Amino acid sequence: MTDATLPAGEAAPLVARDVRLALGDLPVLDGIDLEVGRGEVVALVGPSGCGKSTLLELVCGLLAADSGTLRTRPAALMPQRDLLLPWLDARDNVALPLRIAGTGRREARARAGELLDRVELGGFARSRPDQLSGGMRQRVAFLRALATERELLCLDEPFGALDAITREELRAWLSGLLDARPRSVLLVTHDVEEAVLLGDRVVVLSPRPARVTDVIDVAAPRGARDTGGTPVPRDPTDPALVAARRAVRDALHAAIAADRGRAA
Ligand SMILES: Nc1ncnc2c1ncn2[C@@H]1O[C@H](COP(=O)(O)OP(=O)(O)OP(=O)(O)O)[C@@H](O)[C@H]1O
Ligand SMILES: [Mg+2]
Repeated sequence: MTDATLPAGEAAPLVARDVRLALGDLPVLDGIDLEVGRGEVVALVGPSGCGKSTLLELVCGLLAADSGTLRTRPAALMPQRDLLLPWLDARDNVALPLRIAGTGRREARARAGELLDRVELGGFARSRPDQLSGGMRQRVAFLRALATERELLCLDEPFGALDAITREELRAWLSGLLDARPRSVLLVTHDVEEAVLLGDRVVVLSPRPARVTDVIDVAAPRGARDTGGTPVPRDPTDPALVAARRAVRDALHAAIAADRGRAA
């Protein structure tokens, strides 16, 4: 597949080997091995507080590892909480990283406006965050991460704060975007369903300090289209998806049980 965001011949956007990190006296990452290939969506699941956000911050260069090797292409972060600036409209929120990178106001706004148009939010370009629904705010926050065209997108619980139906809608929306234009994505989620519907692989972490306990391939195809050419999300009843869902659930339970056994 050819795409401007996936330069030919480039190495994997993320390779982490035996990465360790403590925050103060608290060991958080305990020898993480992780890889995201070009155009691959890797979902990261693990118990609450195990170190998922910390790992994403490390990948995006906001933290430095104590040891191990981390090779990563430029990465954009969509943080766990929607951090849109309340005094800027949707367009200026999306344009913000471009402005920070030195793009002039007019061009940054034009590019932000195009991104909003592409996801049918053009009509809300001049609305401030408090005038948008929760789902719209998450889309704007996602576009802001997308705006810089970094090679790796790190999404931290992108749909975390939404109700079930909006979550489902946004999941289909993101799945359609990624099928239309593949990108390399590291997606943190606590939702097993989201992990198997969006991920090509699911990486399961142990309770803190986090290690990778399992890596599960989701063998269900992505990128199906309906007769009108519109991308169709994966079928939740696809046997490969059912198997992956069960494997991820079992792995999570096993990781937590092993930890309880260790603590006892
Ligand atoms: N600046 C900090 N100093 C000390 N400890 C911290 C700091 N930031 C986070 N922690 C702790 O590190 C651990 C890992 O936090 P992190 O936010 O990475 O977990 P998480 O897996 O993303 O959790 P959640 O599922 O709740 O989002 C937690 O126990 C947290 O309390
Ligand atoms: Mg987190």
